[in-house]
Amino acid sequence: MKIVVFGGRGQLGNDVFLTVPKNVELIVPLKEEVDVGNRDQVVRFAKKVGSVDFVFYLAGYVKVDLAEEELYEVFKVNTFGIKNVIEFFYTTPVVYISTDYVFDGSKEGEPYYEDDIPNPINIYGISKYAGELIVKSYVNKYYIVRTASLFGKLPSKGKGTNFVYTILNKLENNETIKVVNDVFMSPTYTFDLAKSIWELVERQYPYGVYHITNSGYCSWYEFAKYIAQYAGFVESKIYPVSSMEFSAKAKRPKWSVLGSRNFPQIRGWQQALKEFIESILHK
Ligand SMILES: NC(=O)c1ccc[n+]([C@@H]2O[C@H](COP(=O)([O-])OP(=O)(O)OC[C@H]3O[C@@H](n4cnc5c(N)ncnc54)[C@H](OP(=O)(O)O)[C@@H]3O)[C@@H](O)[C@H]2O)c1
Repeated sequence: MKIVVFGGRGQLGNDVFLTVPKNVELIVPLKEEVDVGNRDQVVRFAKKVGSVDFVFYLAGYVKVDLAEEELYEVFKVNTFGIKNVIEFFYTTPVVYISTDYVFDGSKEGEPYYEDDIPNPINIYGISKYAGELIVKSYVNKYYIVRTASLFGKLPSKGKGTNFVYTILNKLENNETIKVVNDVFMSPTYTFDLAKSIWELVERQYPYGVYHITNSGYCSWYEFAKYIAQYAGFVESKIYPVSSMEFSAKAKRPKWSVLGSRNFPQIRGWQQALKEFIESILHK
């Protein structure tokens, strides 16, 4: 099986590469070679590569606050890019990675399932939902995978870090850390997500929308506390604060816990986090 991966050199892409099944050949263009927002580059690349069995679209503009100002850049990567790719890889099945931020958070107390109606409340979420609609409108064979709060060995390329590395750095510097305790989500290890994506493709799950996160949920504050605990920081200066205390540019859903009716639960986020932290501390 031959697969083209756009955005394959980021945090998730790194684990997609590390977990690739034996029978799969990956073609992973650099952003410098193929900017997904550039139609000419996409068409030239598509002609060069020829027919493939799948396109994985992991490319993303991921800076949620900056997205409120850099509208063209956000839509270029999260929305127009997928349209370009679909146009020139016509009839090829697609994996498009989307986000819990397509939801507004009003379903507090119950997970969002695949058939819940998105209602994004920030530009990042709007651009991703628009990307989903393009996939649904133009492609018959697709997996739209909504995931959340990723952490992996390679920090997010767009953000330059991920939440786990940010907290670990602050702990190492003995900083006081204030973390919101009224925003809830499902942390997800990119290694587990990557394996699940391969499972979708290899086991030929029915095409459609899938919610894939580590199971369980927590507030960002709880998440930070577990990071400290697993990394062996006995005394840490992590304090819970209300999201009202932070003035972020983008609004965020206060509750974006994802649940699935279409895909089996994967292991809990605590177990995944523990294994991740052990792997980076003993590298
Ligand atoms: N991070 C999260 O918490 C989170 C949560 C939910 C959903 N997601 C989605 O999951 C996907 C993977 O996220 P991630 O954490 O792996 O992000 P990441 O590390 O920032 O990776 C994004 C990738 O997209 C590539 N890219 C950016 N602009 C591009 C362009 N114009 N043309 C071609 N490629 C471009 C980047 O290329 P370079 O390597 O050259 O920079 C990078 O490889 C994204 O679609 C994101 O929206 C992420």
